[in-house]
Amino acid sequence: RREPLVLGIETSCDETGIGIVRGRTLLSNTIASSMDEHARFGGVVPEVAARAHLEAMQPSIEAALKEAQVSLEDIDAVAVTSGPGLAGALMVGVGAAKALAVGLDKPLYAVNHLVGHIAADILDDAAAPLEYPTVALLVSGGHTSLLLVHDLTGNVELLGETVDDAAGEAFDKVARILGLPYPGGPEIDRAAVTGDPTAIRFPRGLSRASDREKHRYDFSFSGLKTSVARWIEQHEAAGQPVPVADVAASFREAVVDVLVTKALDACQAYGVPRLLLGGGVIANRRLRDVATARGAAAGVTVRIPPLRLCTDNGAMIAALAAELIMSGHEPSTLAFGADSTLPV
Ligand code: KG4
Ligand code: ZN
Repeated sequence: RREPLVLGIETSCDETGIGIVRGRTLLSNTIASSMDEHARFGGVVPEVAARAHLEAMQPSIEAALKEAQVSLEDIDAVAVTSGPGLAGALMVGVGAAKALAVGLDKPLYAVNHLVGHIAADILDDAAAPLEYPTVALLVSGGHTSLLLVHDLTGNVELLGETVDDAAGEAFDKVARILGLPYPGGPEIDRAAVTGDPTAIRFPRGLSRASDREKHRYDFSFSGLKTSVARWIEQHEAAGQPVPVADVAASFREAVVDVLVTKALDACQAYGVPRLLLGGGVIANRRLRDVATARGAAAGVTVRIPPLRLCTDNGAMIAALAAELIMSGHEPSTLAFGADSTLPV
């Protein structure tokens, strides 16, 4: 059977991602980001992101087709992220996808952004095929979720998620407190290089024994952020200079520790020796190293796809739709909208 040629559209946050795949083969993955436009606000501004998607959509589609060396008429199906994400941003992608599908008279697949992140692994041709079940930890500026994946195309279980800020958001907010520019993740990573990760013991959110029942796999980063702010305030009030490198390293350690601990806890509890990482925060060197080392010690193989497939992109959305098509799933009807809180 012929492998479907799928064009995927991703607009859930600030990346306009257009990807084209043929079955499990990546043909193109163009990403236009409006990050620079959000920098002066210290975080993604939904309205600004939506407008940027609208402007980037057509040129991005053209660029993706060119890179893949296919024409629009060759496309077998259109895929789009219908949620979760920023409502206004999602609507731009959903509208464009519907227009394309109707215009081309091709099937349309509405897919879940988080499951899309897992599908990114399929396009990593350096890796052996993903085995099931697998635990997945998705960490970005918009989400922090721990999932148990039984089957990519039908059975993905949400084990836990952040109850307040996303991990990347915490990096961005703490960077701001430290006077570092947006996005904060790379800045903190850089500042932490010369710092001592054990200098300050910042709290690990939802890790108390009393949290184990209700929030065993959930995350919380707002208390950590407040704790960093308070520590700095006290330091400044005492007239001492702020040791930025130590604060950055200690904060990063707290985030990484709680992410890896909970993910490996889930692997152990469900007897799953596989952990897949995804989302923009996995660019963090310390997170990659700690997850890999502690995973190895626990007998868990940690999979980290290339960064371009881990940050938000359209190729992962196309890849998921291709899996749905190849496993016989019906396309979506045109009657779906953008759902900012779409469950997995
Ligand atoms: O997946 P992503 O590119 O897109 C959105 O969430 O929109 O993730 C971006 C997030 C930002 O919050 C950024 O600060 C964070 O990922 N990030 C990092 C690093 N690089 C990017 N966080 C920690 N360490 C990094 N090296
Ligand atoms: Zn994402």
